[in-house]
Amino acid sequence: MDPANPADALLGSNCTFGQLAVHKLSVGQWLADPLGASYAAPVVGSRNSNGPTPMPTILGNEGGKAPPTADSGVRLAELMVTLSMATDLGMGQPLETAISSCVAAMRLGEVLGLDAATLRTAYYYALLRYIGCNAHTYAMAALFGDELALRRDFAAVDPGQIPEVLELAARYLRQANIGESPDRMAAMVASALSELPGFMRESFAGHCEVAQRLAGRMGLDDSLIMCLGQVYERWDGHGLPRALKGEEVAPAVLLVALAQDAVIWNRIGGAEAAAATIHKRSGSAYHPQMAERFCEGAAIILADLDRESTWDSVLAMEPGGHRPLTDQEFDRSCEAMADFADIKSPYTLGHSPGVSGLAAAAGRRCGLPEADAKMLRRTGLLHDIGRVGISAGSWGKQGALSEREWDQIRLHAYYTDRVLARPEPLRRLGDVASRHHERMDGSGYHRAAAGQSLSAAARVLAAADTYHAMTELRPHRPALSPEQAAEELRREARAGRLDGDAVGAVLEEAGHRVPKLRRERPAGLTGREIEVLRLLARGLSNRDMAERL
Ligand SMILES: [Fe+2]
Repeated sequence: MDPANPADALLGSNCTFGQLAVHKLSVGQWLADPLGASYAAPVVGSRNSNGPTPMPTILGNEGGKAPPTADSGVRLAELMVTLSMATDLGMGQPLETAISSCVAAMRLGEVLGLDAATLRTAYYYALLRYIGCNAHTYAMAALFGDELALRRDFAAVDPGQIPEVLELAARYLRQANIGESPDRMAAMVASALSELPGFMRESFAGHCEVAQRLAGRMGLDDSLIMCLGQVYERWDGHGLPRALKGEEVAPAVLLVALAQDAVIWNRIGGAEAAAATIHKRSGSAYHPQMAERFCEGAAIILADLDRESTWDSVLAMEPGGHRPLTDQEFDRSCEAMADFADIKSPYTLGHSPGVSGLAAAAGRRCGLPEADAKMLRRTGLLHDIGRVGISAGSWGKQGALSEREWDQIRLHAYYTDRVLARPEPLRRLGDVASRHHERMDGSGYHRAAAGQSLSAAARVLAAADTYHAMTELRPHRPALSPEQAAEELRREARAGRLDGDAVGAVLEEAGHRVPKLRRERPAGLTGREIEVLRLLARGLSNRDMAERL
């Protein structure tokens, strides 16, 4: 272990609460300036925080007028719903938990007669509440083991009830240190529990800070960014990180906190259990009047959340305008989503933007049209978003992965596919993005798709991801030099696992010399044209080809 290496310092086997601050610092620095001057992250809270936010958009800087750039085909709400699915994974919750919370919050908000601006903020806040959730997962996993399971269980606990919190923490600490002698176990658990309040303060503050920075990067408005700084605040003033009390906590924050807990308890024991829990915590976690009105109508507010298509319901509820994001706004959101995924581990900071740039440039070298290069840029940003659904402990493990852990790792490509399943423009990106671990000989994952079913773009993305990852430090190996990575990539191509053209283009783009012969194609055809001919030869219809390409 090299103590001068921040990743080593973080990933040593004796991670302490204090190291959380190191990771938080590195994540904060990264989000403040992830790609140097090219990103120019906005300063949170720097826009007009006084006065009403212009309707109908939640985007902070356009006042409802779309800039004169192309339409991305994706609504802001659709993007947020997509992101909410990723945060469900990161919080150890079933998919669509945040969507259901949003629907329940809107229903309760209507019952309470909340004004349009509050409902609008609550809508987006309910979907984005946990976008900072990856900020401290590494430290959590190092201390508690499976942080996703811990979070799943923590969601049903009242954080204001210290004994409940301590009991849960002690249970996970014991599991994480199983095999230790009874004396050492007792000492470790006692020591960790004594530091728990500080850990929670640091952890929740980091979560809020990262959420605010990501929302700022997406260009979202100040009312929403302010709420993201209050995720763990409570009505009784016993929340974190600022112990705001009563009306100091934004109404949208109080509404969504209640709605989410109601959804979780509804899942555990139905509407009656939800109402009983909300009633019990009324005046402590929740605004008493909100709790009272909820309990009066719990069955109606929670009706059919598990049966109807909450995806359609939640989109239909979007307050204000429904305009699509411009291309520029969509790209900015994809960049924020890339960072959301990469901060899961200190080893992967910057991975997705790096793959994105390399894949897009290599795609152009392969002769793919500009539209495909643009798509590769976006798929590079989004390809590892499913990473959030796997415990940070697996991503940070220094030794060999067990079979179960390896199965979990493989799932991240499936989760990318699942998160990006809708709407259609995202589904097309997800279809390519989720194939970044597929191999030409069918030995990859998660579909074990072989060359015939891998588009030229998917082959380029796989080569770019492989090369970029090899040049990055990982817990189980040092970073390969560019020359070593190039040799590994050539070996993969010779073995028939990676596409030779894609490898050549990636290596050329990365500054390696590639024999010209490899780049030549019959009759001067482009990579795209060869792809079309290949599919034609297989008898695909125009429609099927368009779908595949
Ligand atoms: Fe991956």
